[in-house]
Amino acid sequence: MSVNHPFNETRTTSVLVTGGAGYIGSHTLVELLSNGVRPIVIDNFENSSPESLRRVASLCGSEPFTLYEGDIRDSGLLDRIFSEQKIESVIHFAGLKAVGESVREPLRYYDNNVGGTVKLLEAMQAHDVQTIVFSSSATVYGDPHTTPIKEDFPRSAVNPYGRTKLMIEEILTDLHATDPKWKIALLRYFNPVGAHPSGVIGEDPNGIPNNLLPFISKVAVGQLEELSIFGDDYPTPDGTGVRDYIHVVDLARGHVHALRAFQKETVPNFLTVNLGTGRGYSVLEMVHAFERVSGKTIPYEFAARRAGDVATCFADPALANRLLGWSAQLGIEEMCRDAWNWQSKNPEGFKR
Ligand code: NAD
Ligand code: UFG
Repeated sequence: MSVNHPFNETRTTSVLVTGGAGYIGSHTLVELLSNGVRPIVIDNFENSSPESLRRVASLCGSEPFTLYEGDIRDSGLLDRIFSEQKIESVIHFAGLKAVGESVREPLRYYDNNVGGTVKLLEAMQAHDVQTIVFSSSATVYGDPHTTPIKEDFPRSAVNPYGRTKLMIEEILTDLHATDPKWKIALLRYFNPVGAHPSGVIGEDPNGIPNNLLPFISKVAVGQLEELSIFGDDYPTPDGTGVRDYIHVVDLARGHVHALRAFQKETVPNFLTVNLGTGRGYSVLEMVHAFERVSGKTIPYEFAARRAGDVATCFADPALANRLLGWSAQLGIEEMCRDAWNWQSKNPEGFKR
């Protein structure tokens, strides 16, 4: 593994990674470690397992990094972390992300996502840590009036989960207005898929997956019988929904690029960027790509549209390219190949 030190020539940088044991967090840890950055993780394992962290450490050949098991809403714990560790910046993944659950339990989502972020920002302010990279989502664009989607498009939320992302974007905007020294990146992810090419870490959803690629993977491995395709009458080339799927490794690298960008005088202190490929694929295109790389047949049926789904959603990623020097490198074949590699090697996710 090649190790260089892009952030600081003279000493190891520490980045606090909230939610570091989760899907995107664990892949980001690998990218941080391979860039010579020392991650400190806080996670309460509400939607993840310590096994993912053990695997990141073995994958990177690193000493197990520092883990604080606990909740970002625990101000006492945050105070201890910022006192004990020399932290320069925060990558903030911790939060709940299931849209349907957020409709049933909105207060839990507001408390965890919004309340948790406020506690985190209070602790950062108290300890003079003023750099944060936040996981926002393309969901903040609601039903876009056109595509590709640019960062200045109107924002709206159609469910409590999406509203938490909007609210946090507003909170961070207000915070920056009070003190422009804050360096804040709002990274709006499109549809993260795939896994590390080693097959050692990947996405491990609880129960029956809501998202397309994990569902297809479980059909391919024989744990689910068939895929229901939600809608075949959208105004898209084949009638199925179109999304901007982005390989999780590309997405993870976007975070390293964001931290690096903040070291340049020419980059503004407040960044809002799309992290997507700029290319949309339909559900049927994803099914066929997965079949090609896995050699498996994915049985499917057409079903009614899913409430809240939009027809087409894909990014204009030009701003991320210009400001962060980042662009997605991995295509649909790699996304499906790596999702299948992970699923076939770990049919029970991190449980085995
Ligand atoms: P994930 O559920 O795999 O990871 C989130 C991690 O945060 C988990 O390890 C969980 O245990 C932890 N966590 C949750 N609440 C916590 C709390 N209060 N204190 C400490 N730890 C807590 O999700 P992910 O897919 O890795 O997503 C990471 C972030 O990216 C989330 O904020 C999510 O909303 C956002 N995002 C995800 C997607 C996606 O499709 N995966 C798309 C857009 C945005
Ligand atoms: N789909 C199916 N069958 C399934 C699952 C999904 O046909 O079993 C279709 C959907 O209708 C959609 C496409 O596959 O057309 C992608 O659906 P996903 O659930 O994988 O992703 P979404 O675009 O609906 O939502 C995801 C995250 C949200 C996030 C959003 C934008 O789940 O949290 O991307 O970032 F807000």
